[in-house]
Amino acid sequence: MPIYDSLGTSYSLTRRPDPRIAAQIRNALGDVSDVVNVGAGTGSYEPSETILAIEPSHAMISQRPPGAAPAVRAVAEQLPLRDRSVDAVMAVLTIHHWTDTVAGLSELRRVARRRIVLLTWDQSVFRERFWLVRDYLPQTAALDDKRAIGIDDLVELLGGARVEPVPVPHDCTDGFGAAYWRRPRAYLDPQVRAGISMLAQTDPDVLAPGLAVLADDLATGRWQDRYTDLLALDSIDVGYRLLVSDL
Ligand SMILES: C[S@@+](CC[C@H](N)C(=O)[O-])C[C@H]1O[C@@H](n2cnc3c(N)ncnc32)[C@H](O)[C@@H]1O
Repeated sequence: MPIYDSLGTSYSLTRRPDPRIAAQIRNALGDVSDVVNVGAGTGSYEPSETILAIEPSHAMISQRPPGAAPAVRAVAEQLPLRDRSVDAVMAVLTIHHWTDTVAGLSELRRVARRRIVLLTWDQSVFRERFWLVRDYLPQTAALDDKRAIGIDDLVELLGGARVEPVPVPHDCTDGFGAAYWRRPRAYLDPQVRAGISMLAQTDPDVLAPGLAVLADDLATGRWQDRYTDLLALDSIDVGYRLLVSDL
């Protein structure tokens, strides 16, 4: 069973595309006439030029909004598409879930004529800059250390790419890992955690002590004192990266 058939049942409740990140992805895609979205999930960030979504999880496909591009149940590692059959391929916050990244990226390069756009993150930057992982839940880094792929490795596998930082707005509407960096209370909410795979896939007993300290720090004002500087920022760079590869 695809992992998101259990992990993604309430995905659309907390994972709504953020308009600022959407604009950055749209801009990176450029003037393409057709797009395939791989690991498309519920359809976040798909531009109007999207002709097909590739997604293994039925639970995710069932949450796609009416009018979204048609979706095929398939995986990145074996795309049901001909060589050079589409202008651009996009893959947003999905490559860390693939069973074979090398095969998946090779498939993206096979089917795209002009451009590949990936949104992922730099794990070394993330674990150093994101207070939740660094200071409260360092155990969650173990999972991502294993599955995150180095940015330099990705650039090489793509045969070259431009790398753009993706700042996370303080009121980001897409509840991925660091989306709530200025809204710390959100991480105490099980529904929020269910939409963040690094938290949903870590044993709740492992998370519990760190979350208890966070709850206490918020109640006593220690969190606010410790991170005063963050409260003055509108967005931060915690390692999310857009890779844009022209073929
Ligand atoms: C965090 S969600 C991201 C969904 C969507 N791209 C977004 O930005 O909201 C990760 C998605 O990758 C999908 N996925 C997992 N393994 C995959 C694979 N081997 N090939 C393609 N997609 C995969 C999951 O089913 C899930 O929908």
